[in-house]
Amino acid sequence: MKSLGLHKDPWHNTGACAISGHANDYEIAFLSEERLDRVKDSRAFPQKSIEACMRHTGIGKISEFDAVVLDYIVTDEDWRLDQFKNPCSTENALRDIEAERIHLIDHHLCHAYATFMTSPFEEAAILIIDGRGSRKQTQSLFVGSGNSITFVEQTDAIGIGLLYAAMTQHIGFGSLQEGKTMGLAPYGAAQTPINYEFDGAFDGIRTSYEKFCEDGNYELKPKLTPPKSFEAQARAAYETQQECERAVLHLAEYARKVTGMPNLCLSGGVALNSVANNTLMKASIFDDVFINPAASDTGIPLGAAYYGHYTLGDNKRIPGEISPYLGPSYSEERIDEAIKLFSGYRVIKENALQEAIELLCSNKIVGRFEGRSEMGPRALGHRSILMSPLVAENKDVMNARVKFREEFRPFAPIVMEEHSKDYFDIDRPCPYMLFVPEVLSAKRDVIPAVTHVDGTARVQTVTEAFNGQLHTILQAFMSKTDVPVLLNTSFNVAGEPIVETPEDAIKCFLGTDIDALYIEHTLLIKT
Ligand SMILES: [Fe+2]
Repeated sequence: MKSLGLHKDPWHNTGACAISGHANDYEIAFLSEERLDRVKDSRAFPQKSIEACMRHTGIGKISEFDAVVLDYIVTDEDWRLDQFKNPCSTENALRDIEAERIHLIDHHLCHAYATFMTSPFEEAAILIIDGRGSRKQTQSLFVGSGNSITFVEQTDAIGIGLLYAAMTQHIGFGSLQEGKTMGLAPYGAAQTPINYEFDGAFDGIRTSYEKFCEDGNYELKPKLTPPKSFEAQARAAYETQQECERAVLHLAEYARKVTGMPNLCLSGGVALNSVANNTLMKASIFDDVFINPAASDTGIPLGAAYYGHYTLGDNKRIPGEISPYLGPSYSEERIDEAIKLFSGYRVIKENALQEAIELLCSNKIVGRFEGRSEMGPRALGHRSILMSPLVAENKDVMNARVKFREEFRPFAPIVMEEHSKDYFDIDRPCPYMLFVPEVLSAKRDVIPAVTHVDGTARVQTVTEAFNGQLHTILQAFMSKTDVPVLLNTSFNVAGEPIVETPEDAIKCFLGTDIDALYIEHTLLIKT
């Protein structure tokens, strides 16, 4: 079975995923178009990512795919018609595929496949909490079992995702900037209450904010003056975050009651709210909660491809979490060629790891490029910038020299999984940065650069089996400092997609004040 999953124009976060093989024995490649066309949240037809995924899975012609699966916006009648009022361009890879091989499925069903089929559960409740999906659906409930997923119910009422987006704009951030609201929220806890009357009407799958939000334009219905001061903005973010957690808990309780399932798979844009996820996990409504790191629309191609592989291909599924590193691979020769293309650095091949660790211990900033890139919007160590977490000022240093983000936004830690409970209030692995536990109070002064203002951290736990060299880097850092933690931020500058190719990584390294780049087994140090 060869299955191609696509999320195509004009949605944001277009991309492709190719799966070739049978049952659990398959090759997979998955990539967002932004990583190759270098346009953040790209809306372009995913031509470049289709080609990259085909190259990686050894598929020569698009006609070799047994199924091409896409989500739709308005109508599931014809992929060419599904672009609001204008037909899609037909000058693309789908031009030569027979209509019967093209399958249009519900946007939330794609989210559901992406999370359930990569989860460790044989069966689970699946909750999608999103902005807008197909036919304006906002929140959906499914049940997954084996290799298929059954629909339970959906709503198109204005949900918590749209409220969060509208409040994000009200606070003064742009579209798709909800992460900033989440990062700002803790600063509002002690500020004067504004008492937004969100007036959410909770009824089963609906958490309707129709009295508070305009439909379709991310604006509020009440004529409220946007907060101007940092304190008022922070308070608005705090109250929005509180409402988000209230809605997520309601939806989870409802999902548990209706499905009776002990485990939950969560997806949709709201599932990237790692603070709400942590509240959900702590509430113990479900025995366990799984969230795929591509929970936003970046994950649609993955879910679409799994629908083709498991359901259309009727392949047996053996549950087990899959690697998040599904981007195309780059050979050593390609990396060596890229290193020769540019100048301005020393190339170190001998003892490169030890030198990289020495640099981190000397409080230098080190870029890391390893193997296949990670799925989803967050860097999980294969396209990352690393720095010591031991010095409080490093947060500002990283911002001033490389990232240029808002000061209030925290930087996240990676930790060796076997030491994670010594530093964080967690009772399970967090391999995808999707939970924000408290840093243990005794450790907050040890790793101040990655401890947020409220004492929390969006942690990623790292194992040798799952994360390869990243674990070795942490181990070597620990042997020098006694601390198994590093600051990890995505390998890009603000407003740009995460780097994908070796050339992208070297360009970003040279264009910023990163001190060194540890690319596979070679260390580049600026001269
Ligand atoms: Fe979505």
